Amino acid sequence: MKPTNSPKTYRVKSFGCQMNVYDGERMADMLDKRGIVPAPEGEEADLVVLNTCHIREKAAEKVYSDIGRLTKAGRKAGKEPLIAVAGCIAQAEGEEIMSRSPAVSVVVGPQAYHRLPEMLDKAVQGERATDTDMPAIAKFAALPERTKRFPTAFLTVQEGCDKFCTYCVVPYTRGAEISRPFADLVDEAHRLAERGAREITLLGQNVNAWSGADAKGDSCGLDGLIRELAKIPELQRIRYTTSHPNDFYKGLVRCHAEVDKLMPYLHLPVQSGSDRVLKAMNRSHTADSYLRLLEEMRAARPDIALSGDFIVGFPGETDAEFEETLALVDEVGYAQAFSFKYSPRPGTPAATMDGQVPKEVMDERLQRLQAALNRDQLAFNEASVGKTCEVLVERKGKLAGQWLGKTPWLQSAWFEGEVAIGDLVEVELVEAGPNSLAGKLRETVVA
Ligand code: SAH
Ligand code: SF4
Ligand code: F3S
Repeated sequence: MKPTNSPKTYRVKSFGCQMNVYDGERMADMLDKRGIVPAPEGEEADLVVLNTCHIREKAAEKVYSDIGRLTKAGRKAGKEPLIAVAGCIAQAEGEEIMSRSPAVSVVVGPQAYHRLPEMLDKAVQGERATDTDMPAIAKFAALPERTKRFPTAFLTVQEGCDKFCTYCVVPYTRGAEISRPFADLVDEAHRLAERGAREITLLGQNVNAWSGADAKGDSCGLDGLIRELAKIPELQRIRYTTSHPNDFYKGLVRCHAEVDKLMPYLHLPVQSGSDRVLKAMNRSHTADSYLRLLEEMRAARPDIALSGDFIVGFPGETDAEFEETLALVDEVGYAQAFSFKYSPRPGTPAATMDGQVPKEVMDERLQRLQAALNRDQLAFNEASVGKTCEVLVERKGKLAGQWLGKTPWLQSAWFEGEVAIGDLVEVELVEAGPNSLAGKLRETVVA
């Protein structure tokens, strides 16, 4: 590669889950600290970080088309950008990216991105650099202070996965489960709150597997961490995602009954309603144990909004097994959910299993599942009409005077009135749509 000028502007594009978004924010923090500034909207950046996701094929393909588009646009403008590929594809296919795409200067995995600045220095001198090491904790210690102000913030508390569901790449791209230390997290949460965060979402691939030792040195789980963070006065709301059914325990369920700042929302993926499929997926829970857990949760927090993830067309899934998924959906009544067609991923056991399901069958199942989930989501939103609840104002709406925020149940609500971003206000929900609710501002500014 030819040496090039140091980049003055950057753009970070994140394609994946919330942890991937968090990583993208932290890479941006590092670039800010270097004096590189975000490229203005609509302008090509000198440095583009593609923060990739490997979870399904569709997401993975995007990176190559993006690299192609960037090089073409760069050539046209007479100035090709520096391209860094980060995230889970970088981890899984770093070498392949380097050999397939000569335009890429830097490949950096999700556990090594604290070294991005040094790698960029090399790239500027014309040297390509790859780093896919996995020194998980080192990364967090090496990251700079967070500087941006947002009313809502992500805080990664746990990373990695030891579950090895047979369809999933995460254990390979993110490595083994690790928990960040209690004191570091409390400290980061305080700083986020000082910078305007009113809501923090604790993140982890298996966030409820987080464990640590509290200030007194006693061992504690995610519930202990949540109780500590709830003491931060500026912080009004706490959420966490994603949990695994097998990592649930009584203390965390109790936390939902006892900690007001913990929002009444739980995202708990189930993937399938068929025990045979769950077993083949290596989920190590059954449909029934999952349903019982949700019952406990509803007993602790009756208004809790439930959300889940589903995969249709896992190898060998029969029509009857798919019907079991629909039956589970009917039984739960989800407030929100995410559903996907099974995507065979390189290196995972399911990719070579017998009985791969034809695409048309998957399409049809996904349509039926999504129709049921959409129906339930609308029903949940409609049942909220008439309630007055707190909404955290996150941004301006499309029309002048309009504001958008989230209800405690993570519904988007929009309304008009004299408020500011970061206010927690009382809103009466007056009309429900499939994806949002219209509200009327009550006078009170709660916080
Ligand atoms: N750790 C979380 C979720 C990680 S990935 C958990 O276990 O709950 C997010 C979602 O992507 C999964 O819940 C699953 O529904 C979906 N997913 C993962 N691998 C997939 C694959 N190979 N094909 C289709 N969907 C997949
Ligand atoms: Fe993937 Fe399963 Fe781990 Fe979730 S629990 S990240 S689906 S292997
Ligand atoms: Fe994708 Fe990696 Fe997240 S594969 S879903 S970005 S952990």
